[in-house]
Amino acid sequence: MKEKITEIKERAIPEITNCKDLKELNDLRVKYLGKKGELTLVLRGMGSLAPEERPIIGSLVNEIRDELEELIQKKEKEFKKEELQKRLETENIDVTEPSKKIELGTRHPITQIIEEVEEIFLGMGYQIADGPEVEKAIYNFDKLNTPPDHPARDIQDTFYITDDILLRSQTSPVQARVMENQKPPIKIICPGAVYRADSVDATHSPVFHQVEGLVVDRNISMTDLKGTLEMFAKKCLGENTKIRFRPHHFPFTEPSAEADVSCFVCGGKGCRVCKGEGWIELLGCGMVHPNVLRNCGIDPEEYSGFAFGFGVERIAMAKFGIEDMRLLFENDVRFLKQF
Ligand code: DAH
Repeated sequence: MKEKITEIKERAIPEITNCKDLKELNDLRVKYLGKKGELTLVLRGMGSLAPEERPIIGSLVNEIRDELEELIQKKEKEFKKEELQKRLETENIDVTEPSKKIELGTRHPITQIIEEVEEIFLGMGYQIADGPEVEKAIYNFDKLNTPPDHPARDIQDTFYITDDILLRSQTSPVQARVMENQKPPIKIICPGAVYRADSVDATHSPVFHQVEGLVVDRNISMTDLKGTLEMFAKKCLGENTKIRFRPHHFPFTEPSAEADVSCFVCGGKGCRVCKGEGWIELLGCGMVHPNVLRNCGIDPEEYSGFAFGFGVERIAMAKFGIEDMRLLFENDVRFLKQF
């Protein structure tokens, strides 16, 4: 058995020393030291030896094993060094070449407007509320004083998921959700996406964004509403902006109004942006209807409130001079990075 082991060693050493590459070296490692390698097989066959011979042969095998392993590792290092050397000589890296620029994106115009509006209202002590886009019809309509047979429901007939679940057609349902969960004083705005069965054209999209506002407390009156919206209009559209209110109807406010702002492009003289009117329609608003307060668990004898809602796309288009709403949704980076 001893001779066999020496024979293996004497065969292995020159083979390892003369091998040409890493692959060949690996094969040799398997051939001699692997699970079914020649040396390993010798160890396996030790059962046939006399008991007193076993430790002697065992330690001899181990010695040779270590020796071969060391040789293999040495050879491996040499190969790796050679390889690195070769790469260093052949690959040349031009460190003076300009690097690839990582372009920083810009915020989407809609996001920019929403963030600006949030800043303004946070500055007036409002909180930002949130609500689901997949909404219960009861929040989108019923609690907002718009029962199933109300004509106002037709115009906002939206995308129904079931008979009583839909994609919200306005951010107003968030009013009801907040009032149900929070006692006055309430001062919130809620920006978010809304959905309507409108076909796409330059000023319509089946999905767009609104910002809802709601204030409920004791002694809130129409003057608070007017003052708040005037302040908002000046901060958002410029200090010289004027605001006017026209009577209107919304089921969830009484009285209701629509508010226009003086055109911030021409200052009211009439131009392309305001279509010669001098005014731009901005939002819907009013004093929260007592039925709405009651539907949401707030006593209208004790509390009153105002609410408003406006479209974000409209403001973005006016402010950035964008004439076609579709551009805001096509997400062409060449367009978006201008803002
Ligand atoms: N939800 C209305 C719409 O989508 C906008 C609106 C009008 C919201 C009056 C209000 C409000 O909170 O008081 O047309």
